[in-house]
Order: sequence, then structure tokens, then C-alpha cells
Amino acid sequence: MAAASVASRVESLASSGIQSIPKEYIRPKEELTSIGDVFDEAKKEEGPQLPTIDLKGMMDSEDKAVRDECRAQLINAAKEWGVMHLINHGIPDDLMESVKKAGEGFFELPIEEKEKYANDQASGKIQGYGSKLANNASGQLEWEDYFFHLVFPEDKRDLSIWPKNPTDYTEVTSEYARQLRVLATKILSVLSLGLGLEEGRLEKEVGGMEELLLQMKINYYPKCPQPELALGVEAHTDVSALTFILHNMVPGLQLFYEGKWVTAKCVPNSIIMHVGDTVEILSNGKYKSILHRGLVNKEKVRISWAVFCEPPKEKIILQPLPEVVSEKDPALFPPRTFAQHIEHKLFRKSQEGKKEEKDALVSK
Ligand SMILES: [Fe+2]
Repeated sequence: MAAASVASRVESLASSGIQSIPKEYIRPKEELTSIGDVFDEAKKEEGPQLPTIDLKGMMDSEDKAVRDECRAQLINAAKEWGVMHLINHGIPDDLMESVKKAGEGFFELPIEEKEKYANDQASGKIQGYGSKLANNASGQLEWEDYFFHLVFPEDKRDLSIWPKNPTDYTEVTSEYARQLRVLATKILSVLSLGLGLEEGRLEKEVGGMEELLLQMKINYYPKCPQPELALGVEAHTDVSALTFILHNMVPGLQLFYEGKWVTAKCVPNSIIMHVGDTVEILSNGKYKSILHRGLVNKEKVRISWAVFCEPPKEKIILQPLPEVVSEKDPALFPPRTFAQHIEHKLFRKSQEGKKEEKDALVSK
């Protein structure tokens, strides 16, 4: 069976020398018109740009006015965009570099080596090395392979499935996860204050130190011979509370803002942060979980390291907090567990898929 799984890797497809991509990777016609050259897109100076939030004031200023100003900027960006570049976030540059080196080192291993870490989605083993499996009749696939694993809390990790090569992978990735967890608490407290809540409220609502799960997904996007026809990741919103992303300075991320796709520029030493559906629901839509997608290109491999901070699947009912709901501001989301929320999204998507398939049949 190993041969079949090797064949399904986008990396092996990309390195096979094909000039045109298999049809499963070609996006629907309506979507193709919006896919441009990502390098050209990232150079554009006109139009709306993803905000850059400097956390320096929030991290270490003694001056309350400076702290308040910094918090206000973060809160506004979370309301308007729900995604931003964070700079001066307190995580050392050399630690982020080490995490990236370790992940790159893993992906530089021969595919057969990486296959030893392969996940098995059918049997529920979701951690490990993998590629997307088609989940609808159209068989649509994405141009990426990935490595997925839980990185925090430390007692919930399964270190036996973490890459043993590079040898410092576990050490640097663990330290990064620890520091990100601290940053997540700080961000959640500012977002709580922005809703007029007590500082620790959102942190508590998403599970606190014990239950909030940090899951790392290293996304590996090989060079694509026809980048104008494919997507690395199709359009979606993150289900997480917050997502933190590092990347190897190759552009690819696009945000759907005011009806247009905006390409994120690469800001050195920054961390991209998304507000996910979980915080959008708790805030009753005051903070946005923005629609986004990933483009690919034919010149450079793109790698990104996303850490999803997620509430436990069943233990917590997510719904707009009573303090942010009123008669003139009624709840926009029904109560659901995190698992039910994911289920609901998949169901909605499959319904849309069915409709598209039906439309396609009718139009033949
Ligand atoms: Fe995402």
C-alpha cells in the first residue's frame, strides 16, 4: 500500500516533470478568473493592505497610554480584518528561524523517509505526514503536502510521531509552542478587553491552559507547472480561536476583503495572526474570521507553519457570550460544540458541492 500513498504526494507529482497538472487539481471555471501571478499580486501597492500591528507597546511599555494605543490597534485590526502581521511579538527571531530550519529539514528528506511518518486519515490517525484526500464527487485536490501534529499542552503530545530528523526538531518546535501559548494568552486578553469583558474571559471560554489545543500544520507547497489553474489551499475560514503563521518569505496567502482578493506581503520576522471562527462566534461577529486561500507558483517552493489554537472538541459549547448580545444585537450563531461547528461547515460545503455537481450536469 506504500506505493499508493507515495503516488498521492504532490511533491512526487511536481518532481516528475509534468508540464500540465492532473484535472483533480484544476479549479472550477468560475474560480480561475480570480487566480493571478502571486509575485505580481504581492508587489501591488494600491488598494487595501493587510494591517501590521506592532506589539512593542503592549509587551513592555510602562506607559498606560502607549499600552492602550497598541491594544486599540490590535482590537481594530481584529474587527476590521480578522488577520494581521504581528511584529515585536516577543518571540525571538532566532527561535523562529530554528523552527523553520527544522521543518524545512524534514521536508528535504526523501519522500520514502517522510512516508514513515504518514498519517492514516481513514483510521482516524490524523497526525503525521499527509496530503488532502478528495472529499467530494468532483475529487478536487489542493497543491500541497503537510505535516500535522499537536504541539501543546505538552502532556497531550505524542512525541513518538514527531520527526526525529532533524535532530533538534522536537526541542525547537516545543519551545516555539510554549512561547506561542504565552502570546495567545496576551492576545486573548486584549481581545477580551475590546469586548468590554474581563481580561481572562476569552482564554477561559476557549479552554484555558489545560484544554486549548495548539496544533501545528507545516504546509509544503511544491512548485506548480500551472499555478494559474491550481490552489495550494482552497478558500476557507479557520475554525480555530486564533491561528499563528510563519512562512519562508514566499508569498501565497490571499485574504478576501471587501469583495476582492488581497495578497499578503511578506513582512520579515512577523507572525501572521488570524482570528478564527471560534472567537468570531464568542464575540458575536465583532471580531472577523476572514475568508482566505493560498496560491502556488512555478518558481519557488512555499512553506508555512500554521499553529491553530483550538478549543476542545466536545467539552465546550461555543455561542455568543451573553455580554455581547442584546435586543438590537441578537445572537448570530447557534450554540454548537467545536466538533458540531466543524461538522456543520462540512455539511454546508457538501451541499454546495452537490448543487455545483447538479448545475454542472444540467448545463451539459
Ligand atoms: Fe487557514
